[in-house]
Amino acid sequence: MLLAAASTVAAGPAVVLKKIKGPDVEQYLHYVSGAAGMLAMAGVGVAAASAYYLANRPIPTQPPFDLDNQTIVEGPELIHYSRFAKDGKEMKFMRYLYEDTRTLYDVFRRGARVSNNGPCLGWREDPTKQYQWMRYEETLLRAQNLGSGLVALGLKPTPDTLVGVYGQNSPEWVLSEYALYSYSMVIVPLYDTLGPEACNYIINQAEMSLVICDNEDKCKSLLNNSPSCLKQLVHIKPISKETTELAKRKGINMLSFEYVEKLGAEKKNRPVPPQPEDLCTICYTSGTTGNPKGVMLTHENVVADVSATLLQLGDQKPNCSDVMMSFLPLAHMLERICQIAVYMQGGAIGFFGGDIRNLMDDMKALRPTITPAVPRLLNRIFDKVQSGLNSSSLKRFLFNAALSSKENELRRGIIRNNTIWDKLVLGKVQDSMGGRIRLLVVGSAPLAGSVLTFMRCALGCVIVEGYGQTECVAPTTLTVQGDSTPEHVGPPIPCCAIKLVDVPDMNYYAASGHGEICIKGTNVFKGYFKEPEKTKEALDEDGWLHTGDIGTFLPNGTLKICDRKKNIFKLSQGEYIAPEKIENIYIKSQYVAQVFVHGESLKSCTVAVIVPDVENVKFYAEEQGIPGTLSVLCNHPDIKQLILKDITDLGKKGGLKSFEQVKDIYLHPDAFSVQNGLLTPTLKSKRPELRTYFKPQLEDMYMKLD
Ligand SMILES: *[C@@H]1O[C@H](CO)[C@@H](O)[C@H](O)[C@H]1NC(C)=O
Ligand SMILES: *[C@@H]1O[C@H](CO)[C@@H](O)[C@H](O)[C@H]1NC(C)=O
Ligand SMILES: *[C@@H]1O[C@H](CO)[C@@H](O)[C@H](O)[C@H]1NC(C)=O
Ligand SMILES: *[C@@H]1O[C@H](CO)[C@@H](O)[C@H](O)[C@H]1NC(C)=O
Ligand SMILES: *[C@@H]1O[C@H](CO)[C@@H](O)[C@H](O)[C@H]1NC(C)=O
Repeated sequence: MLLAAASTVAAGPAVVLKKIKGPDVEQYLHYVSGAAGMLAMAGVGVAAASAYYLANRPIPTQPPFDLDNQTIVEGPELIHYSRFAKDGKEMKFMRYLYEDTRTLYDVFRRGARVSNNGPCLGWREDPTKQYQWMRYEETLLRAQNLGSGLVALGLKPTPDTLVGVYGQNSPEWVLSEYALYSYSMVIVPLYDTLGPEACNYIINQAEMSLVICDNEDKCKSLLNNSPSCLKQLVHIKPISKETTELAKRKGINMLSFEYVEKLGAEKKNRPVPPQPEDLCTICYTSGTTGNPKGVMLTHENVVADVSATLLQLGDQKPNCSDVMMSFLPLAHMLERICQIAVYMQGGAIGFFGGDIRNLMDDMKALRPTITPAVPRLLNRIFDKVQSGLNSSSLKRFLFNAALSSKENELRRGIIRNNTIWDKLVLGKVQDSMGGRIRLLVVGSAPLAGSVLTFMRCALGCVIVEGYGQTECVAPTTLTVQGDSTPEHVGPPIPCCAIKLVDVPDMNYYAASGHGEICIKGTNVFKGYFKEPEKTKEALDEDGWLHTGDIGTFLPNGTLKICDRKKNIFKLSQGEYIAPEKIENIYIKSQYVAQVFVHGESLKSCTVAVIVPDVENVKFYAEEQGIPGTLSVLCNHPDIKQLILKDITDLGKKGGLKSFEQVKDIYLHPDAFSVQNGLLTPTLKSKRPELRTYFKPQLEDMYMKLD
């Protein structure tokens, strides 16, 4: 808002450039909302003399506070809290931004009001068509009808009623979500990468009698596993006779989405708005081990997190002229939070067509102004641009000149997309995202500094990076406007405080600046559903969430994520081992496709299971005249010797101590996979499962070593 206001009024950098003193929230809010007015007034005096110059001079984004001092630190535990939260010291954290918007039920109603019934949900029937829009009032009415219909089907309108939603992002997903909130019910998102077994587990654990499901395949997969508590399935898209028959045989009532809406419109059940302390969602996350855990979040948790994020975004926060592209899974809290922030401010959400390969095409059709993004996507754009430059050295020369010019401006806090370089060189990158992006929110994994700076320069828009996890809704830190330095995740947002605690096993001590990141605040969850033990591991008695991530606060008060608290074990001689660190070195061997390092507290050394790289091992074997399939080669002593020597050499080069190096390996011909239960859906090793699976081989290796 400030940037745009400043360039149209064409005035007062003298005012804009004034450093804002003091962390006071009111002062900041006043500054944000009053900035345009102040500019206009100051403009009367200065504008005449310097109008031309100023109109053409880019104006730096104004940071909300001194960028060298971004957090307030208190007490012996060095608790860091937001400069926006003046009561943070007493652990009184921000709960809401608007007095009348304290639940997600309120959020949508606020959006309808401030947008004056503006466009809300957008989609297109197919890639040849334009986006069409449903307005706020219609969305509200349809959500209410759907909710009324669910109540008519026998669901109790209370926060004890959990309802599954299993589908890709779509207007119907959002209608389902707000239908449930309208009757104080709780949404439990289900998603494909969980796998059918996990979906079944969740439906059983949450004792859900009804699931809303988008298509035939998902309905079938649920019916084939059909948990006994499941009684009704609501399908969004049409389904075949065959599936209807299958449902009948399983005793499950199949209803169409439209039917439930119509039923609700007839029955007109009165809405039952939720209270801030009621649960709004249980969000299942798949860890590296065991069953998924249901993270219980209340309306207050979510509203606090969104409100604090909006406050931290300052001038950049969404408003009712914004359009957001929705393509990250709605089962992921990052996407939910971004959408909720847009609804709260009366903006519009357009959904991608469902095929990620057509995302750029959807972007061009929607022309979003805001989009959340994950590093994976930005890395892909970065790689694509880089490889496009290889064809011509002139291209590369121009591109690098463009970037270095924009990087120069970026360092001075100037973010724009109207330089000559944007027209000549960078426009293509901007067009690939529709050409109107002004705010990009990055989260969910670390983003390389070079890629972040590249994207900031190339897109000429504000990119903020946050850090968080589902257990604290989504972001707990977020970079602030005007801070263009990469490789940190900003200071805490005003709904929480952060401290670091010692992890002696890994040699991290809070007193020397590193430790496990712990979070306390209004965004911290209520626990894992029906898992008091696991809840106790994550939430201590004082209400601090232990994230398992290792971080450090930079001198200017921004948080940097360094490491993950790994599974660590002690060997019999008392040395600590971090197997993932060892695996990360061994995996670099050309002969190793997958590796699992194992150690025990009763043994003095480590051993490993290795899945060899088929091609390289076969190539070596052929050269050496060793015949046979991979299974045969796995049992050949020369092959084993080759691989053991190669990884040991790599370990030495990588600085592994001798007790860290494995003393024996077992070669296994079949890959660890999601299907055989040895990898998580995100392709991380499931360590306990691997340990059980390879128990005989591990024992055998230790027996020979003893
Ligand atoms: C919304 O924010 C953008 C960017 O800050 C600004 O250009 C636009 O004028 C704002 N719209 C409204 C209605 O406030
Ligand atoms: C940061 O700000 C606090 C007041 O909020 C002040 O006490 C402290 O000295 C500042 N630190 C630096 C390094 O400027
Ligand atoms: C293009 O150049 C980059 C670095 O400039 C290099 O990493 C990459 O491998 C090259 N790609 C091709 C296809 O030549
Ligand atoms: C430049 O950014 C503004 C908003 O900041 C946007 O309205 C405009 O469409 C953008 N232009 C291009 C070419 O990206
Ligand atoms: C914050 O500190 C880090 C490390 O000292 C530095 O790299 C970064 O540039 C600083 N950020 C700002 C905005 O000064």
